[in-house]
Amino acid sequence: MDRKEFLNIVTSGLATTCVACMMAACSKDEATPSNPSNPSPNPTPGNTPLLTVNLSNQMLSVNDFVAGGGVIVVRIAAGNVVTSFTAFSSVCPHAGSTVQFVPQSQSFNCPAHNSNFNISGAVTGGPAGSGLTKKTVEISGTTLTVK
Ligand code: FES
Repeated sequence: MDRKEFLNIVTSGLATTCVACMMAACSKDEATPSNPSNPSPNPTPGNTPLLTVNLSNQMLSVNDFVAGGGVIVVRIAAGNVVTSFTAFSSVCPHAGSTVQFVPQSQSFNCPAHNSNFNISGAVTGGPAGSGLTKKTVEISGTTLTVK
């Protein structure tokens, strides 16, 4: 094999390798939107439920509540309509501890420094300087979601 034959073989191999690399790079970019770990490249903020409740067997009575996903939802009236429920972030605005619903007084309490909030989320006592953050309740059939 002379020098010219050797260079032809090497450059041909490099060209084939570069084309394969470019095709792989292109196909990877095109596959990104269907990547299961990132199902939506542009998710709509606020559209992902923080909490889902099945109203056919949960929250059947006034003052029943469910906490999870950083929120608390409370039934405040009969019926499965949006106005029958209220929901708030469970993060205390004072220093970030988790507030708890107190059915007996229909209020929220933060055990960390004893801030209290009424059923509307307004501060009624303690060091918190602002009320609880209101969350959106949506109902579809017997499924309630908090967003
Ligand atoms: S963190 Fe809730 S009262 Fe301080």
